[in-house]
Amino acid sequence: MTATSTPTPAWGATAPESGLAPLAIERRALRDEDVAIDIAFCGVCHSDLHAARNDWGRTKYPFVPGHEIVGTVRAVGAGVTRFAPGNRVAIGTIVDSCRKCDACADDEEQYCREGVTGTYNSTDRIDGSPTYGGYSKAIVVAEPYVLKLPDCLDMARAAPLLCAGITMYSPLKNWNVGPGSKVGVIGLGGLGHMGVKFAKALGAEVTMITTSPEKGADAQKLGADHVLVSTDKAAMRAASRSFDFLLDTIPVAHDVTRYLFLLDRKGTLCIVGAIDMLPSFHSGLLLGGQKAVAGSGVGGIAQTQEMLDLCAEKGIHAECDVIPIAEINAAFERMEKADVKYRFVIDMATL
Ligand SMILES: NC(=O)c1ccc[n+]([C@@H]2O[C@H](COP(=O)([O-])OP(=O)(O)OC[C@H]3O[C@@H](n4cnc5c(N)ncnc54)[C@H](OP(=O)(O)O)[C@@H]3O)[C@@H](O)[C@H]2O)c1
Ligand SMILES: [Zn+2]
Ligand SMILES: [Zn+2]
Repeated sequence: MTATSTPTPAWGATAPESGLAPLAIERRALRDEDVAIDIAFCGVCHSDLHAARNDWGRTKYPFVPGHEIVGTVRAVGAGVTRFAPGNRVAIGTIVDSCRKCDACADDEEQYCREGVTGTYNSTDRIDGSPTYGGYSKAIVVAEPYVLKLPDCLDMARAAPLLCAGITMYSPLKNWNVGPGSKVGVIGLGGLGHMGVKFAKALGAEVTMITTSPEKGADAQKLGADHVLVSTDKAAMRAASRSFDFLLDTIPVAHDVTRYLFLLDRKGTLCIVGAIDMLPSFHSGLLLGGQKAVAGSGVGGIAQTQEMLDLCAEKGIHAECDVIPIAEINAAFERMEKADVKYRFVIDMATL
């Protein structure tokens, strides 16, 4: 890092078992296209926990999580045209990409052929330095990857839109969910609760599919038309072949067979949660009715802005439990037990 980089307080992990603790990082001096952002809030995604603990086997330490970032522009580089100091902005999971492949040209930077530069645990494309996430006071990001945060969105409650929100919105849009669609959202956590809200906002009939019967009343408050408890065999049998689209947010490896039985003709089970080996399933479950198992990763920059603008128009926010940074390790433990309503958001003023 150059002599002109800025020391920046952060919290991060130094090893898979270390937990999170204060850490000093450097943010680069502004390049012409860069925007320096003072972070106000950062959401706590289950992916932060997976990565901090090296569940996916590719975490580089020290590691600073956080890719649901909202804040205010502090300074801009000489070439920046869309932002000025004082603007409300947001950063999601993507801070750079090759900008020229077909995926980038199609506004699907998350699928960049050369590999996307993630907000954390990636390598800067220009100077090779590690990228550190939003559990920190400030971040520097190239203008094309900075989102405008509409004025009417509450900052803390908007933060989870940047990963949980777009990860649900993108597949719902891409599979053309709308009036008449029967959608099931599997797992009522950070992603799932936004899935219910977006599926409802797009006009679908929405069922929350949960392992936690006590979350049923909440699911209905969030907009679910029905609640299906996945451990209730009789209820699952009664719901067989009744869904067009299932969004599976379960964060660990699991048997998808019971969910494939729920799909109607031409239905799709879209996996967005587990990144793991899943137990095998009988292919007859797909052949009998032209069904599909699919996957989806976050969403591109343009679609994320579209989602933020829709949230502003319809007043959609996440349900948050705002915490000081000192509670982050306890928050991780609670998230692992599916005990979050429905997203922890860190108040960066406490760092
Ligand atoms: N595809 C992407 O681009 C993308 C983006 C962000 C996150 N992710 C991944 O998506 C997953 C979910 O993230 P999140 O932040 O929403 O997590 P979360 O807040 O912890 O919610 C996950 C929910 O899944 C259900 N669940 C947990 N363990 C389960 C099990 N063993 N069997 C069945 N259901 C279970 C629980 O809901 P109930 O109590 O209702 O059953 C839990 O609340 C994580 O693996 C994360 O890494 C992927
Ligand atoms: Zn995430
Ligand atoms: Zn690309």
